[in-house]
Amino acid sequence: RPPTLQMEHRSFLGQQNCRAKGGAPGFKVAILGAAGGIGQPLSMLMKMNPLVSLLHLYDVVNSPGVTADVSHMDTGAVVRGFLGQPQLENALTGMDLVIIPAGVPRKPGMTRDDLFKINAGIVTTLCEGVAKCCPNAIVNLISNPVNTTVPIAAEVFKKAGTYDPKRLLGVTTLDVVRANTFVAEVLGIDPREVNVPVVGGHAGITILPLLSQVKPSFSFTSEEISRLTDRIQNGGTEVVEAKAGAGSATLSMAFAAAKFADACMRGLSGDAGVIECAFVASEVTELPFFASKVRLGRSGLEEVCALGPLSEYERTGLEKAKKELAASIHKGVSFIRNS
Ligand code: NAD
Ligand code: LMR
Repeated sequence: RPPTLQMEHRSFLGQQNCRAKGGAPGFKVAILGAAGGIGQPLSMLMKMNPLVSLLHLYDVVNSPGVTADVSHMDTGAVVRGFLGQPQLENALTGMDLVIIPAGVPRKPGMTRDDLFKINAGIVTTLCEGVAKCCPNAIVNLISNPVNTTVPIAAEVFKKAGTYDPKRLLGVTTLDVVRANTFVAEVLGIDPREVNVPVVGGHAGITILPLLSQVKPSFSFTSEEISRLTDRIQNGGTEVVEAKAGAGSATLSMAFAAAKFADACMRGLSGDAGVIECAFVASEVTELPFFASKVRLGRSGLEEVCALGPLSEYERTGLEKAKKELAASIHKGVSFIRNS
């Protein structure tokens, strides 16, 4: 077919009726930026998720190829591809969950904030589409700088009259995934047994791992705390430098995004006790947005959990993080209010 046409592919064993495992209706999920470094493996992982019944893959380039490729996987989700701005509305209409990894990634020497100029515009356009076509969808926002793109998305939705803080979640799962991995190395155990809450935001010192609350509980030395905190805060830069100009984390990010999307869908399905960290509208601090543990449920974000007791090291880190976060949030809000 001509690549500009919308494509629908059904897998070999795919069903016509969009049913998830167990006969329950599945979720309709769109990935915006599906042909990118994160988008491609994330598309594959979402096609593997039995909670997904319909998967819309949208990008401004190369989505027909990714769609054809992913659609050959013999799992239940029906896959449709959408290419370019004229197809954005069709990509979004009827979606329950919209995952946004669209935008440029860092190169060595750049901060996430250096991506603002390009990604702010991309996120604005995509969120305007969400407000128009699927205002009730849960949005998982990955595009950097997350500390600023989430406030941008909130302002876009406010302008459109569709804002619901329960449905807008900045994805910080990769910080938790990294923290669990690095801590497991120190503890000499399986990372799947470790849980480190990571709060604050998603850039440098705003990434604040709460090592005092690690599960299973462990008393780190102050040297271990400082080394682990530094590695978790700079995990993204570690990958950017190793990739040497070829982009930033994509595979671990796709894994993290798929994990978070799965948690959102389990919450929407009514599963109890679904807790993840995310950057959300919050009253946990004086800032309007903050990353912390949240409980996900039938309406999206159901509860923002309190920070719990912090060590002195973490309290100091929190004050530094809040200062930077305040500026990043302000930048996002002003971008829309002054435009
Ligand atoms: P990439 O360049 O490989 O892919 C980005 C994709 O977005 C491309 O396919 C591009 O065509 C597409 N795109 C650009 N403009 C678009 C638009 N208007 N509509 C739809 N699609 C559009 O980049 P990547 O490595 O996949 O990273 C994407 C973003 O995710 C970057 O901003 C990166 O910094 C961010 N990121 C965030 C986290 C996190 O933890 N939240 C982790 C890793 C990367
Ligand atoms: C990450 O943490 O890997 C992402 O935010 C990408 C980056 O620029 O570091």
